[in-house]
Amino acid sequence: MPVITNIDDLKRLHRRRAPKMFFDYAESGSWTEQTFRENTSDFDKIRLRQRIATDMTNRSTRSTMIGEEVAMPVALAPVGMTGMQNADGEIKAARAAEKFGVPFTLSTMSICSIEDVRGATKAPFWFQLYVMRDEEFVDNIIARAKNAGCSALVLTVDLQILGQRHKDLKNGLSAPPKLTPRTIANLATKWAWGLEMLGTHRRTFRNIVGHAKSVGDMSSLSSWTAEQFDPALNWDTVARLKEKWGGKLILKGILDVEDARQAVNVGCDAIVVSNHGGRQLDGALSSIRMLPSIVRAVGDEVEVHFDSGIRSGQDVLKALALGARGVMIGRSYIYGLGAMGQAGVTKALEIIHKELDTTMALCGRRDVTTLDRDVLLVPEDFEGRWA
Ligand SMILES: Cc1cc2nc3c(=O)[nH]c(=O)nc-3n(C[C@H](O)[C@H](O)[C@H](O)COP(=O)(O)O)c2cc1C
Repeated sequence: MPVITNIDDLKRLHRRRAPKMFFDYAESGSWTEQTFRENTSDFDKIRLRQRIATDMTNRSTRSTMIGEEVAMPVALAPVGMTGMQNADGEIKAARAAEKFGVPFTLSTMSICSIEDVRGATKAPFWFQLYVMRDEEFVDNIIARAKNAGCSALVLTVDLQILGQRHKDLKNGLSAPPKLTPRTIANLATKWAWGLEMLGTHRRTFRNIVGHAKSVGDMSSLSSWTAEQFDPALNWDTVARLKEKWGGKLILKGILDVEDARQAVNVGCDAIVVSNHGGRQLDGALSSIRMLPSIVRAVGDEVEVHFDSGIRSGQDVLKALALGARGVMIGRSYIYGLGAMGQAGVTKALEIIHKELDTTMALCGRRDVTTLDRDVLLVPEDFEGRWA
């Protein structure tokens, strides 16, 4: 077993163990992948202030996100097809999150259903909703999330239509994989993945199949998205769904100050500053570059969460210091899951926790809730001057 010391190690193992079409699905951005790349490279431009001779005892990474106690302010982001990276992946990730004491978010496009995850865990989880044209389906899935005791609805507002990811088209991404000579050749080298997959009956989009009318070729994510996602989604829809849900609402996918103000007007509990991990509008600015202006605009009125590009505890610290109350991680835990199942997700959380804790200490701080801009060195032109 290789010695795993950072998230990149998990990524290497994930690449080796999961079928190519699923690793590529995780490891891609839309079109040229500029935004995908800059999400991570822009973090590197921010540096840390080393402080010395401060008491480092009794440190704490505990905080709250939308009023929920968390062992560290890092939630697992909703990730479609997680159960294809590793059999029953959503259940494994939810269990790892529960044990660690951080929130898990289940995607609409998951393999394990809301009921599957509910049956396998005790802690309330968050449910992420994509708005479909079929209102009955949407109302029904909201009711199912309520029944399962989900403690927040994460409404994703940046994917009415799907950004094109070249690799998914070239690989013929589907769940379960369609057996072509190319996929068979690749699957033959992933026998451990295949054996585990044979051991579960959860191999398709179980939140949807059996719940939505007239499901066409459900296995192909891109064609189903094009057919079913509601391109007419607007602020009135958001208000209607907020009413329907009646609980804590998190709006995910805000990257613009004006949209952040609208989100405050509609009365959500938190926003997630996010560009969907660089998978939607290629050419948009990195999420971390947009964070400070959004915090300045609405940080006093709504809880600001952040995602896109976090690969370490240092990145978490930078986002918190720039004003995020908490963050979500996507690929960082998916690499862990694809590498080693539930133990890999736990490993990813442990790595990030340790990096966050150590960095905080070396910056002279003991409490994650007190992190502020003072711990950072941010280049003057970091946010850029864009006209
Ligand atoms: C493979 C993959 C699938 C995703 N599926 C969803 C999804 O179903 N719903 C959603 O709201 N966001 C989805 N996202 C976006 C994540 O929730 C999150 O915004 C993104 O991964 C953050 O960037 P990071 O991966 O750099 O941490 C997905 C991201 C990835 C990588």
